[in-house]
Amino acid sequence: MNLQLNRQTFGDPADKGKVLSREEAASLLKEWVPNERLRLHMEQVGLLMRKWAEEKEQLGPEDQWRWEMAGLLHDADWDQWPEEHCRRIIAELEARHIDPEIIRAIASHGPAHFGVEPETKMDKMLYAFDELSGLVHAYSLMRPGGYDGMELKGVTKRLKEKTFAAGVNREDITDACSRAGITQQELIEFILRHQGK
Ligand SMILES: [Fe+2]
Ligand SMILES: [Fe+2]
Repeated sequence: MNLQLNRQTFGDPADKGKVLSREEAASLLKEWVPNERLRLHMEQVGLLMRKWAEEKEQLGPEDQWRWEMAGLLHDADWDQWPEEHCRRIIAELEARHIDPEIIRAIASHGPAHFGVEPETKMDKMLYAFDELSGLVHAYSLMRPGGYDGMELKGVTKRLKEKTFAAGVNREDITDACSRAGITQQELIEFILRHQGK
């Protein structure tokens, strides 16, 4: 499946700062993503993005929502139109005059697939959270206590087991952490602090 986007610029600079309301984003997800597991994945990545913007980047509520929106919508077209991932959500957000930074972050969440390099901090963190958040969630589903008592050690062990959540690309995780300038350990600890709470 060729998902290359074949372009490097997204949205209109004049739309800077324009966002969907929380209600609009929720109704788009409801309409586009019948698969509840995928919706949960996007909500989890959205939450991590918001928390990172708040805690690590010390951004205010408006920017926090821009970061969250990128996470919340990054796979919105994957459920129904996988062969058009993420072309379709980009087109939708461009038509709705959404902030180009949000669209660009979505376009660069899989550089190997889409051919767009993560450049901004928002781009890089979305790329970094995407796979690792999924692995941590898969781990929670096989633990009797779910997220309760989950530790760095256990996640690191699962990460090394190539057969566990085999769809999660370990190389992408390593690549994403080095691009974002954070350690894998730091990223896992951040996810454990926020996800599943
Ligand atoms: Fe994706
Ligand atoms: Fe994803």
